[in-house]
Order: sequence, then structure tokens, then C-alpha cells
Amino acid sequence: MARFHELEVTDVRKTIRDAVVVTLKPVNGAAAEFEFTQGQYLTFRRDFDGEELRRSYSICAGKDEGVLQVGIKRVDGGAFSTWANADLKTGDRLEAMPPMGSFFTPLDAGSGKNYLGFAGGSGITPVLSILKTTLAAEPESSFTLVYANKGVNTIMFREELEDLKNLYMGRFNVIHILESDAQEIDLFTGLVTEEKCAQLFEHWIDIESTDTAFICGPEPMMLGIASALRNAGLDDAQIKFELFASAQPGRAKRKASSAEDSRAGNQAQMAITLDGATQTLEVSKDMTVLDAALGNAMDAPYACKAGVCSTCRCRVLEGEVEMVANHALEDYEVEKGYVLSCQAYPVTDNVVVDYDQ
Ligand SMILES: Cc1cc2nc3c(=O)[nH]c(=O)nc-3n(C[C@H](O)[C@H](O)[C@H](O)COP(=O)(O)OP(=O)(O)OC[C@H]3O[C@@H](n4cnc5c(N)ncnc54)[C@H](O)[C@@H]3O)c2cc1C
Ligand code: FES
Repeated sequence: MARFHELEVTDVRKTIRDAVVVTLKPVNGAAAEFEFTQGQYLTFRRDFDGEELRRSYSICAGKDEGVLQVGIKRVDGGAFSTWANADLKTGDRLEAMPPMGSFFTPLDAGSGKNYLGFAGGSGITPVLSILKTTLAAEPESSFTLVYANKGVNTIMFREELEDLKNLYMGRFNVIHILESDAQEIDLFTGLVTEEKCAQLFEHWIDIESTDTAFICGPEPMMLGIASALRNAGLDDAQIKFELFASAQPGRAKRKASSAEDSRAGNQAQMAITLDGATQTLEVSKDMTVLDAALGNAMDAPYACKAGVCSTCRCRVLEGEVEMVANHALEDYEVEKGYVLSCQAYPVTDNVVVDYDQ
């Protein structure tokens, strides 16, 4: 199965000084592979000085807009994002995996729900896709967006959000919170903290009637918002997260095993199913499931290798593995036996995993 497909860049547009919106068209008959659900992301791969880098970028278009677009914000010193902002141009080709991710809830034209979105900086991309899709698909629903940025000049999609306010008058509301630019209302200046959220819920947002909240932004901001939402009465099933990077390493890397460890049973037998074929391998328990697969020439999917994106998800059918970091899978997925293979080490002597489920 071809995991990566070629996409042609049909437009590159600056949305602010250091972020571009890239429009893509699947080529070689791969269009059906790139049908997406709001809030999903694409994983690109590109060689930089002989080393393959994989980076994920969320789709910022609505599901039914008929266009495939991602927004890439330049990170200081960042390889892929700097290249995309400086050198990517119309006519170039990129390689990407089909859309992935579960940062969405099912929509129903008949429901009238109240959604709340929190986005920080480039975290707007999946939230924009979600809010555009939701407002178009559920005519009785409303959406409030709290959007945090450093200043006015760093607000991605500012004009598009204003246009959406006019299009969905009375159903869509944006509250801009700016870290350094003073605003008429004091509450709208500074960082989005747990305390600020509590104040927003008191005066500006009807939290009691909120059905679902979506959060995407820097990790400390996300944790503060989630805590405020829980204090305001939302349960975990009503709060959806998407993390772009984590400062928390999970757990220290395991030490390489000594010869003695190996003799003491540090080896496991692992059966890995991928694209319909199963390989049985003898692996060290100090090796992740993903590394075991890649090391045996299996083309297992991955992107961040940091437990953040969920591209490497597989299901444990037999035996036990230990996941040392998980910033991507929800509790119900873990209960069903799904793990992030880049973070999962075999614990039992026999382990059976499946990437196809
Ligand atoms: C599911 C998901 C969706 C995402 N969606 C988006 C999106 O829609 N838009 C978006 O802009 N981003 C998004 N991201 C983030 C994106 O994938 C990249 O992480 C981001 O663009 C940085 O990649 P980079 O290659 O430019 O930076 P990298 O080269 O990975 O560098 C990242 C940082 O590390 C520092 N660094 C790099 N190498 C070293 C070193 N050797 N020593 C010390 N520091 C170093 C850099 O200076 C930089 O600050 C998403 C991430 C995930 C997981
Ligand atoms: S590769 Fe991103 S979570 Fe494993």
C-alpha cells in the first residue's frame, strides 16, 4: 500500500508575515485518499540534507469547501516550517500521508448545539476547519471561538474570521485575546489562563449551555483551559484536545540492555501485522514497537515519534506493552487496546500487534 502520495501545490498565500496557507491538489488519481473530516491533519515528508523529516500540519479548510489547505506557521530555527514559508511555491510537489486524527465530533444537520473553541497561534488551523464545517452542516448550532495571539499582527486568518462572523451572524462569535496589544476590555489582554477562562465564563461565555469544547494551542494554555472547563462543569468527554508539540518527555529513555539482561529474558517475540501481512520478530524489550517494525523493513506509519500526533497508532491483540508517553490517544482508544507504537515497549514475552485495525 502506498502510504505517501504526491500532492501538487496550487497556491501559497501569506496569512500573516510568518505563516503561509498552502493549497494542495492530489495527483496520480489519489483524490479519494485525501477526503478528510474537519480537524484532521496531513503528515508530509521531505529530505533535508539527506535526512528524512516528517511533519504534520492540520487541514484548515472546511470539510465541504472542496479544497485541501494547510496553514504553516514558521517556527524560529524550525526546518520544515522555515522552508515552507521561505521556499515553497506554486507548482511544487509535496509527499503526504492521507488525512489522520480524531479531533472532531460527529455532526448532525438536525442538532442545535453550542460549541466552544479555544485556539492559540497556529492552533487555529484545525479549529477553523471544525467551526466552518460545523456552522455549514448544523444550521441550528452556534460556535464561540476564543483565539489567543501575541498581537494583532500575528492573528492568522483574521479577515476570514471576520467574513465568517458576517456570514453566520448571531451563530458565530470570536473573542480575540491578545498577549501584548491593549484592548478596550481589560479581560481580553494577556495570556489565556485558567483564571481568565473562569472570568470569561462568568461574563462572556454561556458555559452551562456548552455541549463540546475544542482546544488547540500551547500545552500550558491547553491545560489551564481544560481545568477551567472541568471546574465549570464540563466532563472529559465534552473536551477535545489537539496538541502540536509537548514539553513533557513522558519518561526517560530506557537504558540499552546489557548482555546479562538479554540472558535474563530481555527479548520478546512480536508478531506485527501491517497492510495485511504479518511478520514475527525477535526483539529487545528496550525497543519500541515502531522501531521493531521499521528495523525489519516494515513501512509502519509515523510522524512525530514523540507521542503527540497518533500517526503510529496500532492495536495490541495479545500480550502487554508499556506506553511511556501518550499525548494523543483518548481513554476510550486505550481501553480498546490502541497504543502509540513509537512510545510502546513490550512487557510480556509474546506480543501481537496490528496496524490495520
Ligand atoms: C497533529 C499535529 C498537527 C499540527 N498542525 C500544525 C499546523 O496546522 N500548523 C503549524 O504551523 N504547525 C502544526 N504542527 C506542528 C508542526 O508539525 C511542526 O512541529 C512545526 O512546524 C515545527 O517543525 P519544524 O520542522 O519547522 O521545526 P523543527 O526543526 O522540528 O524544530 C522545532 C523547534 O526545535 C528547535 N530545534 C530544532 N533542532 C534543534 C536542536 N538540534 N537543538 C535544539 N533545538 C532545536 C527549533 O529551533 C525549533 O524551535 C502540528 C503538529 C502536530 C503533531
Ligand atoms: S509518531 Fe506521533 S505519536 Fe507516534
